[in-house]
Amino acid sequence: MIEKQFLYKYYYLKMCRVFKIWTKISKRIFKVTLNEVAWISAISLTILLIWTWINGETKVIKYGDNPVIMWWTSGFPGTSETIHCPNNIKCDFIKDKNYNEIFNVNAYLFYASNIKFDDLPLPRNPNKILWGLYHEESPRNVEELLHEKILSLFNYSATFSRYSDIPFPLQYLESLQDITSTKYFKPTRVKTKLLNELSPILYLQSDCETATERDTYVKELMKFIEIDSYGACLNNKEMPMKFQEDYLNNLNDDDFLNYISRYKFVLAIENGVCEDYVTEKFWRAIKIGTVPIYFGSTTIRDWLPNNKSAILLEDFPTPKRMSDHLKKLLNNDNLYEEYLTHKTKEEITNKRLIDEFKTRQYQRDALEVASKFECFICEKLHDNNVGMQVKRVVSKKHYNCPKPISALTLQVNPSNDWVYSWEMAKKRADDIYDKVTNLK
Ligand SMILES: *[C@@H]1O[C@H](CO)[C@@H](O)[C@H](O)[C@H]1NC(C)=O
Ligand SMILES: *[C@@H]1O[C@H](CO)[C@@H](O)[C@H](O)[C@H]1NC(C)=O
Repeated sequence: MIEKQFLYKYYYLKMCRVFKIWTKISKRIFKVTLNEVAWISAISLTILLIWTWINGETKVIKYGDNPVIMWWTSGFPGTSETIHCPNNIKCDFIKDKNYNEIFNVNAYLFYASNIKFDDLPLPRNPNKILWGLYHEESPRNVEELLHEKILSLFNYSATFSRYSDIPFPLQYLESLQDITSTKYFKPTRVKTKLLNELSPILYLQSDCETATERDTYVKELMKFIEIDSYGACLNNKEMPMKFQEDYLNNLNDDDFLNYISRYKFVLAIENGVCEDYVTEKFWRAIKIGTVPIYFGSTTIRDWLPNNKSAILLEDFPTPKRMSDHLKKLLNNDNLYEEYLTHKTKEEITNKRLIDEFKTRQYQRDALEVASKFECFICEKLHDNNVGMQVKRVVSKKHYNCPKPISALTLQVNPSNDWVYSWEMAKKRADDIYDKVTNLK
């Protein structure tokens, strides 16, 4: 008891002290001279000026005169600045989400690999605010994009599909010269001699669990024909010491390309089956002059340099039939070389390929694709101002990746984990759609 009383008293005294100090301060405040006021203001102003100068970089742009476009996703790509586009139009770009509520944003752009579906700029007024989707990969990491409902939330797209607004089906083709150049190319007799130490086929992958069940196919093919596998998947051969460390970052190294160009064939199986999704696996084989055994893009024929620049799984639809065909080519140099006319005759007969490459040069560079897309959206916003806007939503056609198909059976395999994952993604897609369109 006594102790408690003691404590109360202690607190009481402490409070009195604080009160006294406070009254002293307030008396002093009321007595400040004009001179002091001037000093305090000057110092605060200087601090404020220095602070705004340090944080100034992004704020120097005067927003408001031009349509405002925000890259909602963090990381690549996007900057905060006024961008000048062809036909003398301009848009103000913002990268920093903190400004979301300060400015009247007219369009949001999303780089799909960095989308977080639980963090979207909502609520959205779909009639006033455009959404743009930029994606260059298969839906491996953003499986929601396998579903049209999610695609339809966006108005415009930049994807590998030739039907998207800013298409880049040849994103991995560096130049047309790469196709015909014989820099890495080894003549057939040299490759034949090398069969003493090498298998006829090269396999080099380190991503072993794919929607296309790549490894399942290769494992089966290995039963009929020898394959050298250097990567983490189905590994059966050591890479030379100099390439062992960090080979994934040296895939375009001259020595490395000279090493792998000694093979007659290379397995080029994409990790996803999408229309016009053709990756460096395919183009690297074309560049070095080994014949790709290809599965992936359903429209690959449209991009082959010549009619026979690849051996397609769909033409030899079982590992046995594929191996029979490969053996036939191994025994007949003329037949084998029919697949290499881009090197032996330095010819490219596919006009579509040449036209696509020449008319859309931007597609080799991901940043240029982003700029193109930015200006495309900017243009749409300006059109909008003068009432020329036509309603548009992204559809399957602009990013066509069907349900995972197995390389082995060329059909959907219901026991493939990726098919299950597809179903789960469909549920998530439905929920996201409802949330964005306010149905929930
Ligand atoms: C490919 O072959 C078809 C006939 O099979 C022919 O009509 C077409 O012109 C050829 N295309 C190329 C690019 O050589
Ligand atoms: C943009 O997309 C939304 C959502 O799909 C749609 O409701 C809206 O009509 C589209 N706007 C334009 C201008 O195309």
